[in-house]
Amino acid sequence: MNRIIALEKTSFLKSLENLRSLSDVRIVKKKVQLLRDRVLQTTSFRNRPGRNNHLLVSRRYLAGELEQIQQSHTLERANYYLSRLQKSLTSVKTAKINDLNLRRWKEYDEVLTDSLWLLPDRDASAGHSAWYWGNFVPQIPRQLMLRYTKKGEWVLDPFAGSGTTLLECIRLGRNGLGVELKPSVVRKTRATLQSMPSRANNTASIEVGDSVVTDFRKVLRQHGANSVQLLILHPPYHNIIRFSKSRRDLSNARSTTHFLELLGKVIENSLEVLDKGRYLALVIGDIYSKREWTPLAFLAMNEVLKRECLLKSIIVKNFNQTTGKRKQEALWRYRALSGGFYIFKHEYIFLFQKQENLSRR
Ligand SMILES: C[S@@+](CC[C@H](N)C(=O)[O-])C[C@H]1O[C@@H](n2cnc3c(N)ncnc32)[C@H](O)[C@@H]1O
Repeated sequence: MNRIIALEKTSFLKSLENLRSLSDVRIVKKKVQLLRDRVLQTTSFRNRPGRNNHLLVSRRYLAGELEQIQQSHTLERANYYLSRLQKSLTSVKTAKINDLNLRRWKEYDEVLTDSLWLLPDRDASAGHSAWYWGNFVPQIPRQLMLRYTKKGEWVLDPFAGSGTTLLECIRLGRNGLGVELKPSVVRKTRATLQSMPSRANNTASIEVGDSVVTDFRKVLRQHGANSVQLLILHPPYHNIIRFSKSRRDLSNARSTTHFLELLGKVIENSLEVLDKGRYLALVIGDIYSKREWTPLAFLAMNEVLKRECLLKSIIVKNFNQTTGKRKQEALWRYRALSGGFYIFKHEYIFLFQKQENLSRR
């Protein structure tokens, strides 16, 4: 199991230093074996030793690094790996847009880097109850925040719904602002947010609003912020689910063209408050209706591309089947076979970066 273990800092670093002073690679390897046997039995982090005197490190990572040293054929190689291990334990190197320590990147098993996301069942912990029809799985905002924000930064979700993004903000120590058209949904989401344990360093709120016309800067200022560092947009997939009867609701747009027009305005509006160089994620699927597949997701992607953003990734994510669809599986299979089409099993997450220099394009 990949446990976090706590190493006594001074003595472990001293052991590494001693290993680097040896002049025979065979002795280095023998001593590394002894060190391995000793430290991999070390106390698991569950015993909560004092943070300052201890190095917290994943057992799997440490075992892998020590094994690599043992596999070295030359003293130079062994010393290179020893020095890399020392550095990874004593210094931090992060990118501008997240808190991932690149010196210990091998420890981030949880963070996805492939463009195909086959996510298992939805995460039902930390207040996520999946009561809202049309929500997304918490793993989506979680992955996005781990890659594209630092602790204490701001995330805006202009189609907040049941607040999946906002709950993940709380869990990950980010600040979140959600805007949602339906007052009844906002009331329920707000109550969920307020029921979460109080937090000293971050806030997550939801406001009623039409994101086509909301002045996000003004709302952000009311919450003590000026701009955001990540946008997560999960709009209706046009009329696949009708969220309300309101004509302001994107799910009631008259046509695909009208939907894209409204979505374009929300994108433009949200980009106003996104810092340059930071990311926008658009989560959306296609539509099959009246014997025709509409590539809604790619049309929506184009709306962002019209607005000075670089496309960074197109992620294909498995579709979590609704209970209704699952019950009708045989019927859909028959329809697909007779109608000459394929059944949706995926949706998209498009990732864009707001350009640093708008005149570059
Ligand atoms: C796909 S759902 C988002 C679900 C959300 N990610 C969650 O996990 O609960 C889209 C949401 O956009 C809302 N919506 C539609 N038109 C809107 C508008 N003009 N302004 C703000 N929200 C809108 C809908 O009411 C719906 O809750």
